Amino acid sequence: MTKFALFGAGFIGKVHANNIAAHPRATLQYVYDINTEAAQQVASRLGAHVASTPEEIWAADDVDCIPIGLGGSNPALPWRWIPSSPRLRARTSRTHR
Ligand SMILES: NC(=O)c1ccc[n+]([C@@H]2O[C@H](COP(=O)([O-])OP(=O)(O)OC[C@H]3O[C@@H](n4cnc5c(N)ncnc54)[C@H](O)[C@@H]3O)[C@@H](O)[C@H]2O)c1
Repeated sequence: MTKFALFGAGFIGKVHANNIAAHPRATLQYVYDINTEAAQQVASRLGAHVASTPEEIWAADDVDCIPIGLGGSNPALPWRWIPSSPRLRARTSRTHR
């Protein structure tokens, strides 16, 4: 089972969420969005938790994959967050070898 945490609960985030929910070997664990109401709607519909900060997801040991569906003017934002997590940094570097 691949465990997902979704960043962004807007248009494309919902598409990702629905695809994850429809897959028999995928599960949506967390949803994070600065619009907590949007995150809550997706999370409650699909049985996931709302993360109140990105760090909550970085610290979680039940996340394998993080699709990014953030809007806004700074698409690099999530990549600035990642170095704060040694565990995810290690995982990211393994992925790119
Ligand atoms: N709409 C599409 O068909 C489509 C397809 C491929 C890629 N994309 C890309 O996906 C991204 C999102 O597009 P969308 O159409 O879903 O936009 P959207 O506005 O519907 O959703 C974006 C979500 O990101 C959240 N958000 C913005 N800044 C944030 C931050 N700093 N932290 C947490 N959450 C934040 C917003 O609250 C919103 O819920 C864009 O970069 C877009 O280019 C969109």
